[in-house]
Amino acid sequence: MVKKNKKKIVCLTAYSKNIAKILDKHCDIILVGDSLANVLYGMKNTHKVKLSTIILHSISVRKGIQKSLMVVDMPKGTYNNPSQAKKNAKLIVKKTRCDAVKIESNSKNFKIIKEITKARIPVMGHIGYTPQFKKKFKVEGKNDNEIKNLIKQATSIEKAGAFSIVLECITPNTAKAISNLLNIPTIGIGSSSFCDGQILVTDDLLGLSGFYPKFVKKYANLNTSIEKAVKKYSKEVKAKIFPNNKNFLYGK
Ligand code: KIV
Repeated sequence: MVKKNKKKIVCLTAYSKNIAKILDKHCDIILVGDSLANVLYGMKNTHKVKLSTIILHSISVRKGIQKSLMVVDMPKGTYNNPSQAKKNAKLIVKKTRCDAVKIESNSKNFKIIKEITKARIPVMGHIGYTPQFKKKFKVEGKNDNEIKNLIKQATSIEKAGAFSIVLECITPNTAKAISNLLNIPTIGIGSSSFCDGQILVTDDLLGLSGFYPKFVKKYANLNTSIEKAVKKYSKEVKAKIFPNNKNFLYGK
């Protein structure tokens, strides 16, 4: 990754080929995030996403990517111990042809990263607000204890062999300290511009998901655009304006 030449790393999530194809032109990393639980499947959290679901979406995403690094989230419960983690990481790579997997830190699962990287599968770490292991949303890195704990996790993840690490909802000063300390790039979400790269959930930045916390910048309002198009279609079907002669496949 490009930490040394200081170029910011651009990352976004994708769950399907068509979106991945658009992102691929402008991103360094495309993540098939387990956020698809909330975003696509309307689940209240990410805890029940099946490995088979992530694999199916990843197969679709792979078809849209030519140049970006493709990372796949390992769902909760698929990396409880080193041998299970290795087996499932290998399965993900085999089925999806992704470049790397991402696992969330529970503050002690560093051996899992070591085991997966030993199998030559690159791993992206994830600390701070880790939705698979935290019940309540909270910004982390506000007091000495939290800062110490986050720094310990980040350095342990780097030592275990991860190639990069997501910092989710971490205070700017702590994100800065971690980014300065590590040799591997930090990818921030809600963790300030001190990180080496940024990631957002694509549906949020497109204004599709209805979830817009302060750290999300809405770059488009697709909800409104889609509704406008669908409303027009509905009106034209009812008024017999669509389809017209131009839309017929044969005849006049
Ligand atoms: O699941 C996801 O989309 C993620 C990103 C928010 C980092 O983990």
